[in-house]
Amino acid sequence: MSRSIPVGLGARAYEVVVGRGLLDEAGTRIAPFVKRKRVAVVSDETVWALHGARLTRSLEAAGLAAPAVVVPPGEQTKSFEGLADLSDRLLALELDRGDLIVAFGGGVVGDLAGFAAAIYKRGIDFVQIPTTLLAQVDSSVGGKTAIDTPRGKNLIGAFHQPRLVLADLDVLSTLSDREMRAGYAEVVKYGLLGDYAFFEWLETNSGEVLAREPQALAHAVGRSIEMKAEIVAEDEKEAGRRALLNLGHTFGHALEAETGYGEALLHGEAVAAGMALAFRFSASQGLCTGQDAARASAAIAKAGLPTTLADVAPRAFGADPLVRHMAQDKKAEGGRLTFILARALGEAFVARDVDAGAIKTFLAAEGATP
Ligand code: GLY
Repeated sequence: MSRSIPVGLGARAYEVVVGRGLLDEAGTRIAPFVKRKRVAVVSDETVWALHGARLTRSLEAAGLAAPAVVVPPGEQTKSFEGLADLSDRLLALELDRGDLIVAFGGGVVGDLAGFAAAIYKRGIDFVQIPTTLLAQVDSSVGGKTAIDTPRGKNLIGAFHQPRLVLADLDVLSTLSDREMRAGYAEVVKYGLLGDYAFFEWLETNSGEVLAREPQALAHAVGRSIEMKAEIVAEDEKEAGRRALLNLGHTFGHALEAETGYGEALLHGEAVAAGMALAFRFSASQGLCTGQDAARASAAIAKAGLPTTLADVAPRAFGADPLVRHMAQDKKAEGGRLTFILARALGEAFVARDVDAGAIKTFLAAEGATP
């Protein structure tokens, strides 16, 4: 059982297939995109141990040679060193332009393997098989690929669209509850930014989605991907509307930077708190009602996600360092702070000229020290 969601990008258009049992169909679904009968699978040790044999069987059954390049799990792999190591191993496989890379894992593998595909021999095709909820509903769709540097996350990268995305809901059954909740933050994001009816549905059905009840999960993932596909098709390079997908991210990235980008605060958890903060900031500026901000927070909290600075860490955050991180965000232009703010639930907009002083006052009211 599966459905296909088109990403309408002209010559670079592709399908995102969402459903069950897709790992077993991967070989037959990928084979039409392969010129020589060979793909290189890039995965991490965790995903590979759980699902590697199944994917390899499927690829080989379709007549594809499928050597694997397995990298260490974790954000530190998404680095210049990780990229150099991966590129060298792809070169050692004598992969050429007619071959294809399969990125099989969560956001780290998708971003790293996608960026390697963007620059390997000036660019080769790749397919995404995302294995986390976050990667299925967000990072595997839309062609953003990148690595981190010590100066910040995702600062070196390229837009490189995949040829196909296979989002197999079965693989989510091995995801930890915490990873599931973190991915769910990006699902709520779609409701909050542009689909009030979906937000209302999530208010009622979050428990079923998080429990991976098949129908609820399929609806939540499918609707999220539909929205992402539609936004990306309209604004591939983030000149306008695609920026809405960054709801919660300016606050969130600052919190991640302060907590060290690791286990202490997962990206999705940071986005969750960031979205609640963005709605409360919007309310404080008279842009949306306090009631809408409270409902946004309640829906996020109901999923066991943080909504306040105190939820994120017991220690106090400093307003100054948080705003400094925001000013370094790659979406900040000419020193002006960019935020995604809201007029109502399901009605977010891009605010490109937000006053740092207003943010500091707001953060102080939220419990940050000066
Ligand atoms: N994750 C935000 C985007 O793809 O634009």
